[in-house]
Amino acid sequence: MQQRENWGSRLGFLLAAAGSAVGLGNIWRFPYLTGENGGSAFIVIYLVCVFVIGLSIMIAEFTVGRRSGLAAVGAYKSYSRNWTFVGVIGVLSGFLIMGFYPVVGGWALAYIVKSITGLTSAPDAIGDVFGGFITNSFEPLLWMIAFLAVNVAIVAKGIAGGIEKASKVLMPVLFFLLIFIGIRSVSLPGADAGLSFLFSPDWSVVTGATVLAALGQAFFSLSLGMGCMITYGSYLNKKQNLAKDAVIVTSLDTLCAILAGIAIFPALFAFGMEPAQGPGLVFVVVPSIFAAMGGGVGVFFSTLFFVALAVAALTSSVSLLEVVVAYLIDEKKMARKKAVYLASAVMAVLCVMASLSLGVTSHITVLGVGAFDFFDILTDKIFLAIGGMFLAIFAGWVYKKEDLKAELTNEGTIKMALFEVWYALIKYVIPVAIAVIAFMGVKSIAQTGLMIFGLAVIVVLAIFSKKL
Ligand code: PFF
Repeated sequence: MQQRENWGSRLGFLLAAAGSAVGLGNIWRFPYLTGENGGSAFIVIYLVCVFVIGLSIMIAEFTVGRRSGLAAVGAYKSYSRNWTFVGVIGVLSGFLIMGFYPVVGGWALAYIVKSITGLTSAPDAIGDVFGGFITNSFEPLLWMIAFLAVNVAIVAKGIAGGIEKASKVLMPVLFFLLIFIGIRSVSLPGADAGLSFLFSPDWSVVTGATVLAALGQAFFSLSLGMGCMITYGSYLNKKQNLAKDAVIVTSLDTLCAILAGIAIFPALFAFGMEPAQGPGLVFVVVPSIFAAMGGGVGVFFSTLFFVALAVAALTSSVSLLEVVVAYLIDEKKMARKKAVYLASAVMAVLCVMASLSLGVTSHITVLGVGAFDFFDILTDKIFLAIGGMFLAIFAGWVYKKEDLKAELTNEGTIKMALFEVWYALIKYVIPVAIAVIAFMGVKSIAQTGLMIFGLAVIVVLAIFSKKL
């Protein structure tokens, strides 16, 4: 049998895992969700979701992944065949997220070029430029394909030679760019309104839907609930301290989300713009902010920002592609290259549907939404959170406690001080918390049909996936 691939170094793994976590979720989605959900109160709920639920689930994913040495489906299946379906939901989520993620990744690439060629020279028209661009049938598709092609090139090279190598270069670049733009933003006159929007909570705006949005965002941003961190954990050597690594990755991800908020909101308020703009926020507000700085400086910062966005997107999308590829390699015994081509071809088709659903095919809806929103809402609001809930139940009630402890303490050679606390959270608190939040959220959300559909898919998979 061929030897399983491994990460080349601890730093390489940490950067790759942080690379997976830090992505469009942090820089594109976190700011617009914060803007739509009233700012600071949303952030506080989000932080609780991240550090209580997300961190515990990440520890569990690394543990289950490294113990089994197998990717999402295999990790469940090798322990208990009845639980295969949770891995299958993960692989399905990988396909679905990659059905829209490269579309937005492509927008970021396009905006690098647009920033240079004069996006910032006509501030009033920036919103129209964005609307015109994403509803166009052809141009966004070219950028999406370009973005997907870079993913294919990286993932085809494998773990240490592809994903790890790319992350080691790209992650430090991203970090530096975010800090740089953040400093510029807070030093603008009038920036304090943005900082108080970010840091002084107004609880009156919180509903069940806010909490579900924060939970979904925590899962999405930390790459949890679909076996991505199981897959990355499966390539880990037996010496690394899993709990510590999870703390580092979670903290880095949170830091980058806050940095993105600091880069955007102070400048947004300084220029008197509206925070609740939805998914167009960074593509409309950021270039407008930079346009208002004027001339070469504006062009420079705008270009830098979209380079950062594209880089962040890329180190995440490779991990999404890897979830599907690793499944095909482990379970279907496919060669890596073939798996990469096959998976990305399917993803490209989904992306074409998603991209066109914002323009020419916007009249075609299923359960009330177009393809882009369908893939997005189904994964972010249902599959990831429910996948995370099942993972917690699996780890808490199916996995033997000794096995978890042995893996987390490297067979007793290192200590994990809060093991019992973590175990109690995973076993009792988290499954109940997710179920309650999901229930409250579903009640106060508009897309009930889609929610029911998502739950039905999970039930069907639970019944039929043992054959997969
Ligand atoms: N964490 C990524 C982001 O914040 O953009 C998105 C993501 C990657 C979600 C990998 C899920 C995943 F498995």
